[in-house]
Amino acid sequence: MERLDKALVSTGRWSRKEARELVKAGRVTVEGKVARKADEKIEKTALVAVDGESLTHSQPTYLMLHKPAGLLSATEDARQKTVLDLLPPHLKKLGLFPVGRLDKDTEGLLLLTDDGVLAHELLSPRKHVDKVYFVRVEGVLDASDVRAFADGLILEDGTACMPAGLEPLETPGEGLVTLREGKFHQVKRMLAQRGKPVTYLKRLSMGPLELDNTLEKGAWRPLTVEEITMLWSNSTKKS
Ligand code: URA
Repeated sequence: MERLDKALVSTGRWSRKEARELVKAGRVTVEGKVARKADEKIEKTALVAVDGESLTHSQPTYLMLHKPAGLLSATEDARQKTVLDLLPPHLKKLGLFPVGRLDKDTEGLLLLTDDGVLAHELLSPRKHVDKVYFVRVEGVLDASDVRAFADGLILEDGTACMPAGLEPLETPGEGLVTLREGKFHQVKRMLAQRGKPVTYLKRLSMGPLELDNTLEKGAWRPLTVEEITMLWSNSTKKS
């Protein structure tokens, strides 16, 4: 058994105060009956709905974060701030982790979840989930760089990269990089290999999930049902 308000909070969609208000407003049902008390004890398997939309409180949480530079993509660190420090306490407690690391100085799309299965699907190179990065380098990106990326670069330490996309943009030195894998510092190392050090890096998308451009740096929001469905159907399609 667990408390109804706790079950609502654990979805990551509401704070405890909001959960109590939902119950007070008569918007929450348990097994089809309007719940009266936020501290009511319910079965862990009980069917809970808010405004008629059912939620399973064991459902995973998915948040889209616009990662700013200066934070670690980790769940905790003894000295430095991590992306989880951007979340309010009720979400920090859910055991969320970032799907694929971005370097401390990299910005952009970071998915935070407690769903290990989806994280694996998104990160496995076998699943062909493209990650697209906007990049700015010292120098100019040209056709020979595009070819080298398409052929599969060998990094300085001998690591072989899968064929990758590089699309130079109109502004010299800016481009879009598309990767299917996520080796350590991969974009930076690939471009360093071409003699064009990265000066700015931002992840724009992961598979069908695009960074919401209304999210300020440091802001986050839950994924919509459509985004979650898209991610799942994308990852099961291509195994
Ligand atoms: N490649 C990098 O070099 N850094 C990142 O943060 C992501 C991809």
